[in-house]
Amino acid sequence: MHVVTLDSDTDFDGWRRAARALAMNDVRAADVSWRVKGAAADLFDDQSETRLPDVPKGAFSVPAKFMELAESAILHRDPNRFALLYRLLWRLRANHDLMDIATDPDVAQANALARAVRRDVHKMHAFVRFREVGREREARYVAWFEPEHHIVERAAPFFARRFADMPWSILTPELCAHWDGSRVSFTPGVSKAEAPTEDRLEEVWLRYYASIFNPARLKVKAMEKEMPKKYWQNLPEAKLIQPLIAAASRRTSAMIADEGTEPHKPQKRVEETAMTRKPKAPAAAETSREMAVTDLQTLREEAAACRACPLWKDATQTVFGEGPEHAPLMLVGEQPGDKEDLAGHPFVGPAGQMLDRALAEAGIDRSKVYVTNAVKHFKFVPRGKIRLHQKPATPEIKACRPWYERELATVRPALVVAMGATAAQAVFGKITQVTKNRGHVVDLPEGPQAMITVHPSYLLRLPDADAKAREYALFVKDLKIAAAALKRADAA
Ligand code: URA
Repeated sequence: MHVVTLDSDTDFDGWRRAARALAMNDVRAADVSWRVKGAAADLFDDQSETRLPDVPKGAFSVPAKFMELAESAILHRDPNRFALLYRLLWRLRANHDLMDIATDPDVAQANALARAVRRDVHKMHAFVRFREVGREREARYVAWFEPEHHIVERAAPFFARRFADMPWSILTPELCAHWDGSRVSFTPGVSKAEAPTEDRLEEVWLRYYASIFNPARLKVKAMEKEMPKKYWQNLPEAKLIQPLIAAASRRTSAMIADEGTEPHKPQKRVEETAMTRKPKAPAAAETSREMAVTDLQTLREEAAACRACPLWKDATQTVFGEGPEHAPLMLVGEQPGDKEDLAGHPFVGPAGQMLDRALAEAGIDRSKVYVTNAVKHFKFVPRGKIRLHQKPATPEIKACRPWYERELATVRPALVVAMGATAAQAVFGKITQVTKNRGHVVDLPEGPQAMITVHPSYLLRLPDADAKAREYALFVKDLKIAAAALKRADAA
């Protein structure tokens, strides 16, 4: 019997090295015992570690599909996962297409493990709730979470990207992750008693949650499926759920009655119904909260009542993104302009016409593109009869970012094109220079590809006709780069 001891539960490299050496020496799956250093079983296990056989010369290739699956499945808590994966690897030597046989019991089991791990990562991304510890410069954001599987290292980079500008720690029983603004580090797990239980932002978050809770969309079963009860203990908003559900039918009737009297009333009046008459909500990103993935129509309806920043007060309505639910390309602008604010649709004014022309020239069909904005309310200052556009500020961009993130999670485009600095800030989660970075397609970590270009309004503002023509040509060139990247993604 060969006994292999891995350094940790997530030691994929160790497993891969050992599995390769064993398989290339024809060691049968039944003749290998796998364990993890320091695991409880060690205490009773008198089998000692065996030296791995040398790796003979020669190629040994396995399908990329298997490696991808193994990297996820190995994070499952099932103690038999190492043996299962080695058995699969062993069998792949005789049948290279084994992974395509979904009904094979080993393949099915490995798929189930990988699926459970991916689901656990998703739940961690969605249900971690940070609490503020300390004030101002000393502030740190700390969350408690209990994952089902060994996923903390897998899930942590998401939080580093999402909350890049705040120091945070995620405490779990097995492993804690910390972000100091430049790198993620890990320390051993802790007990729940070490996690904070409340903070000064909680009250505003609860008010915000109550304000976006839409009783007309309430599907209790679906909600409990997406947000299983076991996560509720760490969600401050969970204590609102039962009372909100109880009040839902009353509030729905009130909404219907309200709508019935004024079928075409503008959104501002709708916002003043019983459901949405709430105090100003906090900037969602600033309070470090996440929203769940859902369908576009639901998102649009929720966003219609958004008060995450003060811009809703003067705007006519929320201008949400538009386009096919699974468009391969997402274009992100800055914020609706005057025309968009009145029409309720993105990019229908002069900048939209410029955009349409450039898209057509680049061979991109706008009807196949999802078009949205980083900020979904029009920001302006009145000057007589004119409403003068104002650039959104960082708190407004941050407050609106959860909507973009939820659009992204729902549409799942292959490529996002950020038009202008505000869009770039939303897409990359930080201030990113347009001129220096435009026209380069880059991979967003765990996400789609992304590219920056200028905003079409910039072209409109150029006073000089030559400069306008030159810049327009560069804009079209960038869009052609996007079109080519989409073709590549489609072919891959
Ligand atoms: N500018 C934008 O950024 N978005 C629009 O929808 C219109 C103009």
